[in-house]
Amino acid sequence: MIVERFFCENFRNLKNIEIEPCPNINLIYGQNAQGKTNLLEGLWLFTGLRSFRGTKDAELKSIDCGENDRTKLGLRFFGGERHQEAEILIEKKRKAFLNGVELKKSAELSEHCHAIIFSPDDLTVIKEGPQERRRFLNTAICEVYPAYSELLKKYNRVLQQRNSLLKDLRYRDTMYAFLEDYEKVLASYGAKIIYTRKRYLEKISKYLPEIYSGLSGRREEIFMRYETAAEDTEEAIFEILKKNRAEDILNGSTSVGPHRDDLSFTVNGLDVRKFGSQGQQRSVILSLKLSEAEMLKNVSGEQPIALLDDVMSELDPLRQDYILNHIKNWQVFVTLCDPFSIKRLKAGRTFHVEKGTVTKTGEN
Ligand SMILES: Nc1ncnc2c1ncn2[C@@H]1O[C@H](COP(=O)(O)OP(=O)(O)O)[C@@H](O)[C@H]1O
Ligand SMILES: [Mg+2]
Repeated sequence: MIVERFFCENFRNLKNIEIEPCPNINLIYGQNAQGKTNLLEGLWLFTGLRSFRGTKDAELKSIDCGENDRTKLGLRFFGGERHQEAEILIEKKRKAFLNGVELKKSAELSEHCHAIIFSPDDLTVIKEGPQERRRFLNTAICEVYPAYSELLKKYNRVLQQRNSLLKDLRYRDTMYAFLEDYEKVLASYGAKIIYTRKRYLEKISKYLPEIYSGLSGRREEIFMRYETAAEDTEEAIFEILKKNRAEDILNGSTSVGPHRDDLSFTVNGLDVRKFGSQGQQRSVILSLKLSEAEMLKNVSGEQPIALLDDVMSELDPLRQDYILNHIKNWQVFVTLCDPFSIKRLKAGRTFHVEKGTVTKTGEN
């Protein structure tokens, strides 16, 4: 998709802005805390997903706006081979409109608007524990298979039910028979989740090694693996759950299943999490994001827009070149403090952000 116009009112510190980006590289520059990331976040909301900063919708409204002021975002874009308009209203619930018609759920926007986001916070995917990597994987999959999010919800609900039963069973064993019922359902959803994740990762793996190798100047090789103690068949998961009952009752929690799984990355044979340099960790995330974009393009037939928050300033010119060349046929929004460092590289449009106002400053 190509964004032709974007506006927002009373969104974070962006009181009233409107931009007309160009179809290739858009540089958004300005000092810290001026609203650059907010602008990317505003664009991101059109994917129908939650804010990539994990912010609740209510917090997206400008803090100092009046009770009658509405928070509204709008997008004119070219997608699905035509010009379209989307709008988002942030009230108690988020409302979304496409070409003037209100959508049943704002999440339906994900079928029409596609984007990938790289944010410096994504480095936690490598640095922190498995929970971050599962979250990353889940978000990526939701964008391609919207039904997956329902599956996760159902799984988590039954997981909680089994866990509270496990705790009860420490004191009274009259309800033991229920355990099997929960486990059957859990195994069935769990198998579907693991299967979907593995299939997704297989698809990503078609692009990831090539992109990572390019980014590292052909000096490094990446390998990604899904780590699970469970299998992806319902029967196998059920058997493991049954086998672990005694231990699970003792701990009051379920020790095996997709909620405990992990992703691992090695570069030139070494675990990136433990041995990777900052640059390598960053490159892993970036290549993952670019692979995600390739995959989205394949699934939806549309090129997603790329939102790259604070990425360039930390990379050497070779890696910057690779990224910008790799995405030369995409629409990209790059935020940075100093626009001159990469201006030499590409034709594009520049926007200056200062205290929540955005001004177009150049075109080359
Ligand atoms: N809901 C909100 N209402 C008003 N201002 C906000 C809101 N949320 C964040 N801000 C302000 O936005 C600014 C940060 O914007 P951000 O886009 O993260 O900056 P940067 O340009 O460094 O990327 C901060 O000054 C913060 O106070
Ligand atoms: Mg920022």
